[in-house]
Amino acid sequence: MTKAPVAIKEPQGKLGILIPGMGAVTSTFIAGVEAIKRGISQPIGSLTQMGTIRLGKRTEKRTPLIKDFVPLAKLEDLVFGGWDIYEDDCYAAAMKAGVLEPRLLEQVKAPMQAIKPWKAVFDQSYVKRLNGPNVKSAKSKWDLAQMLRDDIQTFKQKNNLSRLVMIWCGSTEIFMESNHPAYNTIESFEKALRESNAAIAPSMIYAYAALREGIPFANGAPNLTADIPAMLELAKIKGSPLAGKDYKTGQTWMKTVVAPGLKARLLGLAGWYSTNILGNRDGEVLDDPESFRTKEESKLSVLDYILQPELYPELYKDYFHKVRINYYPPRGDNKEGWDNIDIFGWLGYPMQIKIDFLCRDSILAAPIALDVVLLLDLAQRSGMKGIQEWLSFYFKSPMTAPELYPEHDLFIQLMKLKNTLRHLRGEELITHLGLEYYD
Ligand SMILES: NC(=O)c1ccc[n+]([C@@H]2O[C@H](COP(=O)([O-])OP(=O)(O)OC[C@H]3O[C@@H](n4cnc5c(N)ncnc54)[C@H](O)[C@@H]3O)[C@@H](O)[C@H]2O)c1
Repeated sequence: MTKAPVAIKEPQGKLGILIPGMGAVTSTFIAGVEAIKRGISQPIGSLTQMGTIRLGKRTEKRTPLIKDFVPLAKLEDLVFGGWDIYEDDCYAAAMKAGVLEPRLLEQVKAPMQAIKPWKAVFDQSYVKRLNGPNVKSAKSKWDLAQMLRDDIQTFKQKNNLSRLVMIWCGSTEIFMESNHPAYNTIESFEKALRESNAAIAPSMIYAYAALREGIPFANGAPNLTADIPAMLELAKIKGSPLAGKDYKTGQTWMKTVVAPGLKARLLGLAGWYSTNILGNRDGEVLDDPESFRTKEESKLSVLDYILQPELYPELYKDYFHKVRINYYPPRGDNKEGWDNIDIFGWLGYPMQIKIDFLCRDSILAAPIALDVVLLLDLAQRSGMKGIQEWLSFYFKSPMTAPELYPEHDLFIQLMKLKNTLRHLRGEELITHLGLEYYD
């Protein structure tokens, strides 16, 4: 049964993309958009740009591109702005990150050089391995939030933007417990901002500023940031969609592909050891145990949720799971990740799977950033607000409503995403149920 489509506002005018943190992921994302706009490259890895969606029965042969099916902002209408603790413009940041070849960057130099980071809200207590000069100073965290809101409004006016989205691409902050009383309500959070309470990390100040301005917010890192009740309440009141946390790129993406396969075949797991070498600035930040803990929590939770040991104790109750990240400068952004997976099958006979993934971190993250900003903008124009679970597909630690556990299985996540798009357009949801057996 089809339903009436949801009323979606057309994406008229320009969409501003606000990015705290203009390092490897951000510069690769922006350079990519500029290259694609100029026909230099294809948007490989982007579901919104290259993905299709099946509609109706298979016999109907209706599979439009997603970008033709739902009204997304066009790449030509994106305008980028952001903050960083370093003064490098986006071109210089891309050159330093060393992800893309100078030959490619040369072709998009002018628009990249035009993006100069605004002064950041930063405090080294939350990212121990970083220190830079381009930082705001103010009497309180409340004042810093107001300064960010001014930056946002100025950017909007100067560029004549009709809408905005913010996506955190800053460094991973130290691990923070989610149960601090300051996080409970908007009032307690704002009081803590005025008192410059240590429970408020810089990333939270950005998220607060965005939500106060009614702007959708996504978190590409594992920091707590907007995953607290106060932010959820604010997002609901202001009509902002929220998504996060932590882009699902290399090893964890692979985990959410392989683990559902093991469970589907009821193969047992004795252990899963993941380690990788990484030499970019992200790797350096994650070399600090407190930032690593935030990342570790994000990476570890995936298997338990997929394998459901409480339902399959014989198969998954006692598996050993270890995740390591090793900072190894010679590799730069070209990470190498190894997975050793000890499994067991029929009659308990052991087997092993080895994965050696020579990936490029920011090459995997950039299309995710693009999809997330476009889909958050779509969500807001469709009247959706609060946590957008249908975007779990993109994240290692998907945000969920407080009473729900996160869904990590990549294929369930993709089905949820596409069914949400079908729902928006009043198309039948695809359940894969074969009613023809009854004809
Ligand atoms: N690349 C991936 O595959 C991937 C996957 C998942 C998550 N992430 C996360 O995305 C984030 C960005 O990754 P990256 O590889 O671009 O790292 P990066 O170190 O190259 O860039 C991060 C930038 O953020 C800036 N920064 C830090 N704190 C800031 C603040 N408070 N305000 C403004 N700027 C700030 C840093 O100066 C740096 O330029 C990291 O947290 C990383 O863990 C990356």
